[in-house]
Amino acid sequence: MQQQERGKYIQVEGMDGSGKSTVVEAIVAWLTEQGIEHIVVQEPGSTPLGAELRNIVKDAGYPIDDVAEAMLFAAARRQVWVSVVKPALERGVTVVTDRGLLSSYAYQGGGRDCYEQVLDLASITFGGRQQIYDLSIYLDIDVETAIARSKLRGMLDRIEKAGPTFFAEVREYYHDIFKHTEVREYLDKVTKVDATQSKEEVAHAAVSALKDLFEQEE
Ligand code: TYD
Repeated sequence: MQQQERGKYIQVEGMDGSGKSTVVEAIVAWLTEQGIEHIVVQEPGSTPLGAELRNIVKDAGYPIDDVAEAMLFAAARRQVWVSVVKPALERGVTVVTDRGLLSSYAYQGGGRDCYEQVLDLASITFGGRQQIYDLSIYLDIDVETAIARSKLRGMLDRIEKAGPTFFAEVREYYHDIFKHTEVREYLDKVTKVDATQSKEEVAHAAVSALKDLFEQEE
C-alpha cells in the first residue's frame, strides 16, 4: 500500500441531514481505489468515552449549560485525537472524520454563542493553536431542509430539538466559516459543496477536492 509521510486529516461537515454519510462512503471508496491507507472516525462517538458523552449530549433529561456542552464535545474530541487520530496520522494513515472541530464552531460557537470558549478548548484539545485538518469538506444545506431531513430520520434528539433560531446560527457559522478568523489557525482549507444537488453530484464534488489535496503532494 502507498504510504504518505504523515497521514492526511479530513473532516466532513454539515448540518444534520446534509448527507455526510454518503460523502464519507464516496471518500472511502476513492481512498481504497488509490491504495491509500485510511481509517474513519466519528465525533463525538468513536471511542468508549465519546459514545457515553454522545448519549449525554443527545439525550440528557436534565439541563446542560452551554459551555459545559462545549466541554463535553471537546472531551470526546480530545479522547479520539489522543487515542486514535494522532497515532494514525503519525503512522502515515489518512483519517476521515465524520464531524470535527467545525461542528463545535458551528453548533456551540454559533448555535450556543460560545465561539470563544470553543476556540480556547480547541487549543487545549490539540495542545496549541496549529493547523490540524488538511481539508474540511462542508456540505451546505439550508435550515428548512436540514430540519425536514432530521424529522424524516425519526425522533429528534436534544440538539435537533433546539429549533430554527439555533439552526439559523449554526448555518451562519458554517456558511461564513471564516467570520472569526481565529478558526483559520486550525483549518484553512475548506471546500464548500452545495448539498442540495443530487447525491452523485455532492459525492463527486467532495472527491474532486480530495483528489486536489493528494495531487498537490506529488
Ligand atoms: P450524531 O448522531 O452522532 O451525528 P450526526 O448527526 O452527524 O449523524 O449526532 C451528533 C450531534 O451532535 C449532532 O446534532 C451535531 C452535534 N455536535 C455538536 O453540537 N458539536 C460537536 O462538536 C459535534 C461533534 C457534534
